[in-house]
Amino acid sequence: MPSPADLIELIEVRVARKTLEADGIASFYFARPHGGALPTFEPGAHIDIHLPGGHVRQYSLCNPAGETHQYQIAVLRDPASRGGSEALHALVAEGDLLTISPPRNHFALQSGNGHSLLMGGGIGITPVMCMAEWLARNGGSFELHYCARTPSRTAFLNLLRGGSFADKVHVHFDDGAAEQRLDLAQTLSSCPADTHLYVCGPKGFMDAVLGKARELGWPEHRIHFEYFGAEVVHQATDVAFEVEIASTGRVIQVAPEQSIANALGEAGIDLSLSCEQGVCGSCLTRVLSGTPDHRDMFLTPAEQALNDQMLPCCSRSKSPRLLLDL
Ligand code: FES
Repeated sequence: MPSPADLIELIEVRVARKTLEADGIASFYFARPHGGALPTFEPGAHIDIHLPGGHVRQYSLCNPAGETHQYQIAVLRDPASRGGSEALHALVAEGDLLTISPPRNHFALQSGNGHSLLMGGGIGITPVMCMAEWLARNGGSFELHYCARTPSRTAFLNLLRGGSFADKVHVHFDDGAAEQRLDLAQTLSSCPADTHLYVCGPKGFMDAVLGKARELGWPEHRIHFEYFGAEVVHQATDVAFEVEIASTGRVIQVAPEQSIANALGEAGIDLSLSCEQGVCGSCLTRVLSGTPDHRDMFLTPAEQALNDQMLPCCSRSKSPRLLLDL
């Protein structure tokens, strides 16, 4: 039976433009090779890009939602990456053809008529900038906080500071004066009661913002986030365990240095995989018994605590056997 990933109709695009936005950050604009409209998308959406070398990576769309003549992504060159950002920066040039997925959105605006607190750390500005542009265009109430190391490494600075919603943009530099730094507790405490929080950025930034929001009592339904992928790290203490397939009773061994998805794949059981980093949610699988060792960044702490679903691309098991609803 084909997996859901097999059923997605991929799109061929041409790199219409590649521009340097800041130190180590490039924008890529994609369009249909022979013209024509791309599928519409909403703020927070991302696309999968199939890269030279066989990598598939997710990037948030950052051009105005509703545009169909092009998609724009911005990519930070990360030498520590598993080849995604390196491949885009070094190997992909204007005129190249690439394959992408249609946009998908796990990070959609939920605020209704309420206030939106948008927070982007580094290259995590991309989805929240798209949200800000859409909210400004549609009369939404919002503020955008953008945290970056230094102006030379800050993408879209002129666009945000010179744009139509510049009065709602607050930029905070790590190397700047103390008075311009982000006061997280104050920012999270001074919003209207109906505010929804949207956060995207590197793990340290996300952990700080989400941790403080939860500490201050923000309810989970008003907290929305999207992590960037990070390489799945196997720990020295990882041990082997078994996975049982509920539909067949088949039992598969997972070695200490192997992911569940990898072990299942070797046994001929293919999951729907995309990021393989516990970020996108594509491989979400129900757990019928056993205790997962959650290592993903997709489920909330409350969802993880229920132990009734897991991301087998990165998470493991605390019990000798997991029974998966496959
Ligand atoms: Fe993305 Fe597992 S493939 S979370």
